[in-house]
Amino acid sequence: MKNPKLVPIILTVIIVVLAAAIIGILIFMKNQPIEKRGVQPLVEIAAMEPDSSKWGLNFPNQYTTLLLTETNQMRTTFGGSEPVEKLDVDPRLRTLFAGYSFSKGYSEDRGHMNSLTDVRNTPRLSDATPGTCYSCKSSSNPSLWAEMGMATYDAMKFTELTARVTEPIGCANCHEANTMRLVVTNPALEEALAEQGLDWTKFTRQEMRTVVCANCHVEYYFQKDTNYLTFPWDNGTRIEGIMDYYAEVGHTDWTHADSGAPIIKMQHPDYELFSAGSTHFNAGVACADCHMPYTRDGAVKFSTHNVMSPLLRPSETCGACHTDVDYVVERVTEIQGQVWATMENCENALVDAIAAIKTAAEDPNADAALIDEARQLHRQSQARWDFIAAENSMGFHNPEEALRILAVATDFARQAQIKAIEAVK
Ligand code: HEC
Ligand code: HEC
Ligand code: HEC
Ligand code: HEC
Repeated sequence: MKNPKLVPIILTVIIVVLAAAIIGILIFMKNQPIEKRGVQPLVEIAAMEPDSSKWGLNFPNQYTTLLLTETNQMRTTFGGSEPVEKLDVDPRLRTLFAGYSFSKGYSEDRGHMNSLTDVRNTPRLSDATPGTCYSCKSSSNPSLWAEMGMATYDAMKFTELTARVTEPIGCANCHEANTMRLVVTNPALEEALAEQGLDWTKFTRQEMRTVVCANCHVEYYFQKDTNYLTFPWDNGTRIEGIMDYYAEVGHTDWTHADSGAPIIKMQHPDYELFSAGSTHFNAGVACADCHMPYTRDGAVKFSTHNVMSPLLRPSETCGACHTDVDYVVERVTEIQGQVWATMENCENALVDAIAAIKTAAEDPNADAALIDEARQLHRQSQARWDFIAAENSMGFHNPEEALRILAVATDFARQAQIKAIEAVK
């Protein structure tokens, strides 16, 4: 080298240039969008995508098992999915529902993929049927609610909404797209929880495995004039709180054709009965534990989305926790048999009460005040009976509570009958 004095200067320049290059590269890398997850989904799913087959590209096991709910039609003693006509199985129901659309048709529930077909085929439909009846039947709903708001949706007629409600129950009813977390999708559930000071976004994963079913498997009613979908939970989710709520807002579904009593029709309070302190609920067991057990497909473990009666695969459902599967299944038979027998007694008492009130009401000399008391007792009795009758497990979800409620219902019906008999004395 001709001028050794230049060596440190050249070295310094090289170091500065290299450092600048490294800093430049680091800044460049930092400004790149971060990789969101290790394995990219095959397709990005639009928020609230109604079409389950699109989600199915990413999650074929969950999708194909969901599809099985269309054809999983097997019967159990009190459940299963055959579309049996409950009115023919138990003719007392025609008397209990006299004057109401349920006396025209009342089918056993079926799997989730049948929801749209079944709601469109029920003989209970008429031109006046509100759009609100679609609320728990379709994965088209979450995006429609987001677009137009639930109040507008509920103000529409069933027939007006038919063209826009195109999918049966699907992924968008229970999951947030892409994150796949379980979510509350029904605004009525969100509002009812908030009314009780509960924020579902803070619930644990195990709690969500139950609450996601409460989007639909609950008691609800449509507010007068607006048909706004509402869960009657302001005073809690037990039957007493629900009946207090209906008294406060003055709600009645119909006036009984024979007794003249103002009656509440219960929908399907599976969530309310299960969560009313049942052994399984208190032990932290969730709806999905019994109805969506883990299944294997080769090396892959996933939740089956073929939701159905747990009795059709007891070793997968009950067997996940109980070693003696035969014993617990036998317990179901006994519990359901006991609840059914108690329910029949209750129905007989109600039929007697209705006949007695009808007779009294036809007598011009009868004591009007006593008839009124008898009608109020009929209302209270029938709501309790129906809470257990319309619930889907024939008492299994909460045997103690089911028998307690039926006992009170039977007592109220007999009191109603006695009041009506006294009214004509
Ligand atoms: C400990 C297990 C267990 C849990 C937890 C459970 N269920 Fe069930 N469920 C059953 C059994 C058993 C039946 C009765 C099935 C039959 O009679 O065929 C049933 C019946 C049903 C049915 C009627 C099924 C049919 O085939 O007609 C529905 C709907 C249902 N449950 C929904 C729910 C919901 C919603 C929850 C949570 C709020 C829940 N279940 C929690 C065990 C369970
Ligand atoms: C009725 C509600 C419901 C519907 C409809 C539903 N899921 Fe699920 N899904 C669940 C529940 C409950 C779990 C259990 C979640 C947990 O354990 O955290 C689950 C779990 C999953 C998981 C997590 C992995 C596993 O199997 O446990 C994926 C992925 C998934 N579902 C995809 C789908 C896809 C895709 C669809 C539509 C084709 C769909 N789900 C429809 C309720 C539902
Ligand atoms: C979007 C509303 C909705 C959600 C969410 C929902 N269900 Fe259902 N479910 C229904 C409707 C509606 C039916 C009846 C469909 C018919 O009869 O066509 C039904 C039917 C069922 C049946 C009866 C199936 C049969 O084969 O008889 C079971 C069991 C059931 N649901 C359990 C669950 C469980 C467990 C969850 C939560 C993981 C859940 N559902 C979430 C609306 C819903
Ligand atoms: C996720 C776990 C889990 C699943 C699934 C499950 N159980 Fe249980 N079961 C429990 C626990 C926990 C208890 C309470 C045990 C105790 O307190 O000793 C219980 C208690 C019971 C009892 C006794 C109830 C009582 O009041 O003493 C019966 C009967 C029963 N289970 C039946 C069933 C049947 C039938 C199924 C399937 C349809 C089932 N269980 C599914 C966890 C489960």
